[in-house]
Amino acid sequence: MLKVDLSGAASFFDSVGPDYAAAAEAHRALEEHAGAGAEFTGWLELPQRVKNDELKQILSAAAKIRGRSEALVVIGIGGSYLGARGAVELLRPRPLAGDPRIFFAGNSMSPDALMLLLDTLGETDFELNVVSKSGTTLEPALAFRMFRGLLEAKYGPEKAKRRITATTDARRGMLKTMADEEGWETFVVPDDVGGRYSVLSPVGLLPMAAAGIDVTAVLDAAIEAFAAMDLRSPENPAWQYAAARQHLYQLGKSIEILACYEPSFRFMAEWWKQLYGESEGKNGIGIFPASVEYNADLHSMGQYLQDGPRTLMETVVSFETPINEFTVPFAMGDPDQLNYLAGRTLSDISRVAREAVKAAHVAGGVPNLEVQVARRDEAGFAELVCFFELACALSGYMSGVNPFDQPGVEAYKKNMFRLLEKPGAE
Ligand code: PA5
Repeated sequence: MLKVDLSGAASFFDSVGPDYAAAAEAHRALEEHAGAGAEFTGWLELPQRVKNDELKQILSAAAKIRGRSEALVVIGIGGSYLGARGAVELLRPRPLAGDPRIFFAGNSMSPDALMLLLDTLGETDFELNVVSKSGTTLEPALAFRMFRGLLEAKYGPEKAKRRITATTDARRGMLKTMADEEGWETFVVPDDVGGRYSVLSPVGLLPMAAAGIDVTAVLDAAIEAFAAMDLRSPENPAWQYAAARQHLYQLGKSIEILACYEPSFRFMAEWWKQLYGESEGKNGIGIFPASVEYNADLHSMGQYLQDGPRTLMETVVSFETPINEFTVPFAMGDPDQLNYLAGRTLSDISRVAREAVKAAHVAGGVPNLEVQVARRDEAGFAELVCFFELACALSGYMSGVNPFDQPGVEAYKKNMFRLLEKPGAE
């Protein structure tokens, strides 16, 4: 199970320290469905439910996609795509032999991005997985209309139907109505799971399985992780993270930077930003979630982190054992003067760099929280998802907000639909 190391934050805590009693109370409220938004806490049982009820259908649909298509276009936005993209880029940064390429669309309205994807797809055999809980979100709906047209032009309307899967509400919404009318295979976004907590439902699992990720291993590891984090004690990593970041927020650290030394973590960080931003930023409060990619951003954001306003805390996700390893070779004559590193592995040098960054940032006034994961594999991914979801719910309750709603997202939509003169829009 992943570990949280608070040693880089301890010197910033006041004499009272992180409030574990509040974490315990938040955990109790979550479990007893006594907190705000309790009707959206189904994600806690999701891995077991999906394993029992939907895994077979997901595996069978993924096998069909893998068998007949070179590409899957996943159309969705926000919680309807970030988890899947995070998983695919973390665990399959490059397709292996026989893997279809996974593309993501419907998360922008850029005609240039659309054209780029259409050009990239070219003559490739492809299919669509359209994901929208509401079934009415404009960005994916527009992309779906275009890609569906393309699919029908390429394969004909009847064959195209077999190349569309829709992941949506069980009963409501435009997408559900269309899927029923057209006979597309459907998967359900459960009523009691909000978009940003849905990665371990078919929303995330179908694209992951299509990409060749072992989703059975993901679900098994997630079941274990949630069981392990049911622990009611300050030893619980979710309590440690939630209580430490809330304590630091009280002490003026209002921005949290999520950092990772693996470039393939980029979209996991995007997923994390949505999870925490949408869950906690309300009622005029909330830690602002930002992310950096190390070592690259040490050379762009490093100055600010070291020396800018002291409102930052830093959370570093590390994978302890790399999948690959390289040893620095010895060079005759030492032309680049790097022989002092000859014989050392890249991961060892990276570990030392990590320690150096931590010491520098802590000395510069940035508390450091570490989340240590054993490996960048299915189990590591599942642990991270369960850990961040649970800690987010606890942290939200500790700060007094409902971590499961997102009323603020509606404001731009109202304006946009009015300006676009959507029938019925005020
Ligand atoms: O977390 C959320 O609820 C949002 O990010 C939604 O996932 C996002 O707005 C997409 O909504 P929908 O799945 O209804 O298209």
